[in-house]
Amino acid sequence: QKATRIAPSILSADFAKLGEEVAAITAAGADMVHVDVMDGHFVPNITIGPAVVKALRPHSALPFDVHLMIAPVDAYVAGFAEAGADIISFHPEAGPHPHRTVQLIKSFGKKAGIVLNPHTPVEMIDYLIEDLDLILVMSVNPGFGGQSFIDSQLRKIEILRKRIDATGKPIDLEVDGGITVETAPRAVAAGADLLVAGTATFKGGPAAYAENIRRLKAV
Ligand code: DX5
Ligand code: ZN
Repeated sequence: QKATRIAPSILSADFAKLGEEVAAITAAGADMVHVDVMDGHFVPNITIGPAVVKALRPHSALPFDVHLMIAPVDAYVAGFAEAGADIISFHPEAGPHPHRTVQLIKSFGKKAGIVLNPHTPVEMIDYLIEDLDLILVMSVNPGFGGQSFIDSQLRKIEILRKRIDATGKPIDLEVDGGITVETAPRAVAAGADLLVAGTATFKGGPAAYAENIRRLKAV
């Protein structure tokens, strides 16, 4: 398990100032920029597409961690890869062929991740884990920021930590949803090394970002 890193979700940023917001979290000590892409079909909300990722790219040198909540996935991988994504993650239920999607993401030289919804069993990564760079555990149902952490996911994180360690590969174990100063230490204790934080990063505005991120990391 590596040192805890924070990936602020720009879903909680001021959408009228996204470039400045990405620059501000970069200066405030974020480790990655988490971009939530929703299609109004796989999840009940619509957010942003490749054009916005491309426009934000010059505003930060940090890796862009792009979380696709869209179905189907494959037709949009090239667009996000070319827009400047560094890690591209998707939900296996978005299908139809998760192994093919992982290979497609890697064909662009990008890191590939699988996202597990609260009800999705860890077995969904069987026969796939060795090919992954990241596993993302959803600790809320995807679609919206500001929801409460679902405690049952801690056990899933513990199981995945063991599976990752058994591969001997540097696969990131990321947790997304309801991360606060209270839940962050529990997710880290269960084995997470990368925490998505929307509300907890952006609350209080730009002057608070550095302290917000520092407090989340200090676990
Ligand atoms: C939910 C998104 C999350 C969300 C996290 O579908 O994937 O990244 O924005 O927001 P908070 O940290 O506010 O729970
Ligand atoms: Zn996300």
